[in-house]
Amino acid sequence: METALLKDAAGKYLMNTYGERAICLARGEGCRVWDSDGKEYLDFLSGISVNNLGHCHPAIVAAIQKQAATLIHCSNIYLIEPQILLAKKIVENSFANKCFFANSGAEANEGAIKLARLYSKNKYQRDDRFSIIAMKQSFHGRTMGTISATGQSKVQVGFEPLLEGFVFAEFNNIESVRALVNEKTCAVILEPVQGEGGIIPADKKFLEAVRALCNEKDLVLIFDEVQCGMGRIGTNFAYEYFGVTPDVITLAKALGGGVPIGALLARAPFSDVFSPGKHAHTFGGNPLVCSAALAFVTELFDKKIAARAAETGEFFRAQLRALAPKYSFIKDVRGLGLMIGIALSIPGKDIVSRCMEKGLLANCTCDTIIRMLPPLIVSKEDCDKAVKILDEVFSTI
Ligand SMILES: Cc1ncc(COP(=O)(O)O)c(C=O)c1O
Repeated sequence: METALLKDAAGKYLMNTYGERAICLARGEGCRVWDSDGKEYLDFLSGISVNNLGHCHPAIVAAIQKQAATLIHCSNIYLIEPQILLAKKIVENSFANKCFFANSGAEANEGAIKLARLYSKNKYQRDDRFSIIAMKQSFHGRTMGTISATGQSKVQVGFEPLLEGFVFAEFNNIESVRALVNEKTCAVILEPVQGEGGIIPADKKFLEAVRALCNEKDLVLIFDEVQCGMGRIGTNFAYEYFGVTPDVITLAKALGGGVPIGALLARAPFSDVFSPGKHAHTFGGNPLVCSAALAFVTELFDKKIAARAAETGEFFRAQLRALAPKYSFIKDVRGLGLMIGIALSIPGKDIVSRCMEKGLLANCTCDTIIRMLPPLIVSKEDCDKAVKILDEVFSTI
């Protein structure tokens, strides 16, 4: 269907949660996508850090096709071989010793919140040790629990009353975290690199200090790696970049190579907190998504894709930084690996639209930050093309 007709039908039949959408993506291959009118784009957003191996990677396509023709779904009442193999692969390549599978980032974080509360309840046998310290400007999802854990009022307004028990510290300020710890605290949740909050990496020293504080007070340290994990910042897991090991990690987005899956990873004793009946999903960890995710993590871990992302990311950020002296409205080029933010002193929405017109997909977060999340397999030549398009668009301002 033509884009104009699709727009009309979308307005008529879909709830208006995503605002006006200019194009319909119909096909993808590697770092390129084509819209329903046949126009080609360089995809430097990757479904917001989902298509980390690019579009329609042959290993993922083959895994999905094979599993779809074998067994698409079965209940968690039964053993699921791809789920077990996926958990084994993740455990063998991470700090964790057990996994639980959900369907999205928000669900993975819901699981982490429940795990932290249950750990505390089981150990301390108290009803009041349930509070979780989260960070200002954070983002953890759109369920009631995760909007309550999110440090941005714009996602909360209208949905009150929120879930009780979340307090917010300044990101990268250990004194602010320490000041919020009291007898009610059971956990700390943070993104090692804040994504929706504007591509803000944690300071290594901050994470080390949070780790020490959690050890001292027996708080569960949860890293939300939904956006910054899975090779995005140049290491398989974001915690590896900082050299700080959490107790629990949440994953989603890139994990499934494009199909919906979320995961909760934990080390002992946190990995043994749940017992039968305490947590579950109908679809979580089903054969189809786990086969896709197994193909994704096998490529990521075995082919050292993250190291490639680190190198390309450094190159790309250097090229973007080279634009800064030409344009006074570029305040900062920041990020790690291929998780990049160009902070502007002017609104970014229009710039993103003009890039789209010229065949480059990116997006804008926090009104003024152009976010670039290309597939981790992106070439330096494609980075150069993206920089050229940005330069052209900036030069018209
Ligand atoms: C850091 C982080 N956590 C959680 C989520 C929520 O993930 P989902 O949209 O899969 O529920 C997101 C989504 O952008 C995210 O960036």
